[in-house]
Amino acid sequence: MDILCILLFAESLIWFSGFSVAVDTVYASQSISDGETLVSSGGTFELGFFSPGNLTDRYLGIWYKNVPVRTVVWVANRSQPIHDSSGTLMVVSTGNLVLLNQNRSVVWSTNSTKRAQTPVLQLLDSGNLVLRDDGNDSPDTYLWQSFDYPSDTLLPGLKIGWDANSSLERHLTSWKSPDDPSPGDFTWGMERSNYPELVVWKGSSKYVRSGPWNGLRFSGAPQSGSNPVISYEFINNGTEAYHTFTVENKSELVRLVVNQTTYRGELSTWNEDSQSWMLILSVPKDYCDNYGLCGAYSKCLTDKLPYCQCLKGFSPRYPDKWNSNDWSQGCARDKLLGCNDGDGFIKHTQMKLPATTNTWLDGSLSLKDCRTRCLKNCSCTAYSNSDIRGKGSGCVLWFGDLIDMRQFPSGGQDIYIRMSALEIDSFPIEKRKLVATAVASAISGLLLLGITLGITIWKRGMKIGGLRNDIDVPLFDLNTITVATNNFAQRNLIGAGGFGSVYKGNLSTDQEIAVKRLSKDSGQGLEEFSNEVALIARLQHRNLVSLLGCCIDRGERMLIYEYMPNKSLNNFIFDHDNRILLAWDRRFEIIIGIARGILYLHQDSKLQVVHRDLKTSNILLDANLNPKISDFGLARIFGGDKKEARTRRIIGT
Ligand SMILES: *[C@@H]1O[C@H](CO)[C@@H](O)[C@H](O)[C@H]1NC(C)=O
Ligand SMILES: *[C@@H]1O[C@H](CO)[C@@H](O)[C@H](O)[C@H]1NC(C)=O
Ligand SMILES: *[C@@H]1O[C@H](CO)[C@@H](O)[C@H](O)[C@H]1NC(C)=O
Ligand SMILES: *[C@@H]1O[C@H](CO)[C@@H](O)[C@H](O)[C@H]1NC(C)=O
Ligand SMILES: *[C@@H]1O[C@H](CO)[C@@H](O)[C@H](O)[C@H]1NC(C)=O
Ligand SMILES: *[C@@H]1O[C@H](CO)[C@@H](O)[C@H](O)[C@H]1NC(C)=O
Ligand SMILES: *[C@@H]1O[C@H](CO)[C@@H](O)[C@H](O)[C@H]1NC(C)=O
Ligand SMILES: *[C@@H]1O[C@H](CO)[C@@H](O)[C@H](O)[C@H]1NC(C)=O
Ligand SMILES: *[C@@H]1O[C@H](CO)[C@@H](O)[C@H](O)[C@H]1NC(C)=O
Repeated sequence: MDILCILLFAESLIWFSGFSVAVDTVYASQSISDGETLVSSGGTFELGFFSPGNLTDRYLGIWYKNVPVRTVVWVANRSQPIHDSSGTLMVVSTGNLVLLNQNRSVVWSTNSTKRAQTPVLQLLDSGNLVLRDDGNDSPDTYLWQSFDYPSDTLLPGLKIGWDANSSLERHLTSWKSPDDPSPGDFTWGMERSNYPELVVWKGSSKYVRSGPWNGLRFSGAPQSGSNPVISYEFINNGTEAYHTFTVENKSELVRLVVNQTTYRGELSTWNEDSQSWMLILSVPKDYCDNYGLCGAYSKCLTDKLPYCQCLKGFSPRYPDKWNSNDWSQGCARDKLLGCNDGDGFIKHTQMKLPATTNTWLDGSLSLKDCRTRCLKNCSCTAYSNSDIRGKGSGCVLWFGDLIDMRQFPSGGQDIYIRMSALEIDSFPIEKRKLVATAVASAISGLLLLGITLGITIWKRGMKIGGLRNDIDVPLFDLNTITVATNNFAQRNLIGAGGFGSVYKGNLSTDQEIAVKRLSKDSGQGLEEFSNEVALIARLQHRNLVSLLGCCIDRGERMLIYEYMPNKSLNNFIFDHDNRILLAWDRRFEIIIGIARGILYLHQDSKLQVVHRDLKTSNILLDANLNPKISDFGLARIFGGDKKEARTRRIIGT
């Protein structure tokens, strides 16, 4: 019925068309037909009809006037194109917009209930299309604005978020494809909660969270506090929560797009020289940004493998799944909460705060009162400052499982996680520091002994302290390895040496592994074992073999590596049949690869390592014959400022 009224009304309007000069305003009773455009006063944006990609269908939209690559930032009705060039946009005198097609049927309309004396439609230089009363350009009185109904693009000044008062919920939705503006399944908006955060959705599942705004930056993006191109703004005052950004250099064109093709949120800026959009940053940024990758009560780390680790006092809920790198089921408490004042908290630092869906916020409470508050409610699992500026202020409480945390090498924030009194008692302060992650991952006393031993020996040459805290490699249990190697079957044996044997294995995830099983009376003693584990766990380079974990169980000591299908270099070079397989250019690439690996060890790694046993049998080749240096049993760390170091024993090659 409504539409009929509007239509009848529209028919009675006087038509006016054919702008000869670029204008940015249209008055009531005027219209814009296909072929005509509005241009914002500064000449930045243009409104008109366009056809996406190679299509002939027409849509009403807004794009950058001076960007030769047609870049549309807004589309009126994304799901209904006009099939010919008969589209007309009209300003109805009551204060609404109507888009009509050839048959004079409404393709799109605004439904503002506000009324105006003299409605005008204006395209602002921000890219915002606004309908307002003539003579009144206060944003609060706009009858309607395109910034309230974004498409796939966030422009400076556009507010993503919600406003309880006007019941607006502004979010971005990707185009289905570059030539189909209709809504795709990739969306980006602000989740409604007491401590709101931006969430990217892929279909109906959460894909990435920004983490809540902590006064300085998004908790999940430490770098967001200091972006040279844009500055972020975040408002949350109960009735309204939104995020917007402003550009430092007003003459730069900057936009954020949710891209269905790449499944990324992409912030880019127009580059005049290359005449193209340059990506400034994109979300998700890394693997740990994947929502809930590690399940509950765990943290994701990008600089260690595997990515996921249970928090202190928690263990994998399903160890088998966890060990085969399916972390989604997360971790469970080792000791259940007492749910009384006896409970305590363990502080975790440099963290991305967990999902804030079930939170409670009080911006004026102190951290101490926050703690008390949390203890009072049995379902409160964590607390933290809501604002970390200065010494920190405000209080946020979490209820229920804590999901999607990560730990940054720097720049994260503190969170206090509720633990049973028993758990706190079993971690006396000093001991906790010392044993740290080693205990958390339940490395047996055997290894600890070895590590301590190793440390006393390396200490002189080592600049970087606290190695103990860094031995943080995943532990495989003996059953997993036994199954993977068919109980160390002879047919799985792929190598043997003084130290023991190497077996090929298959994890239940189909991942192929190489298991170095040290014979109990091997030449590689406990010392070398700890040495190798500690060292290689901290070294990552594509020309070094990567350690997946170790296994210390019932007197067995094993190292688990990625499997190298082409075995070692000596199998080629010193084998009559195989040596012809390695052409000269291939050998040259291998040499370069080894050199890169050594350069990394000697110079570029944090540790500065001398391998001391470099030989062809320790150069492994992956499926593409890329070389990877292995066997760090004899390697030694020396200080970054040292040119030479002495050894007490003569060993290796
Ligand atoms: C559009 O047409 C051009 C030239 O005919 C073609 O190369 C391109 O693949 C087409 N794009 C799409 C999305 O179909
Ligand atoms: C417009 O009217 C013509 C003729 O009645 C009809 O064939 C066509 O489907 C209509 N188009 C739309 C978009 O309704
Ligand atoms: C856009 O078009 C669809 C499909 O015809 C229609 O259902 C919807 O109401 C239109 N949207 C607006 C805002 O007019
Ligand atoms: C007004 O239109 C918007 C879409 O443009 C729609 O989301 C909203 O529900 C409509 N409001 C009313 C009161 O019809
Ligand atoms: C909600 O909006 C109305 C008018 O739009 C205003 O009078 C009222 O004060 C607003 N309420 C809040 C809590 O902002
Ligand atoms: C919330 O913030 C908005 C924007 O700053 C402001 O207009 C509004 O009045 C605030 N509402 C309350 C209840 O403080
Ligand atoms: C701002 O951006 C424009 C266009 O990219 C550039 O020409 C100008 O030098 C920039 N100004 C500053 C202060 O960086
Ligand atoms: C999405 O990404 C693809 C591939 O990088 C690119 O070609 C396309 O232009 C992007 N879409 C938008 C809307 O930026
Ligand atoms: C604890 O917090 C939850 C979630 O806010 C709430 O539903 C519950 O009523 C609270 N319980 C007590 C005893 O305050």
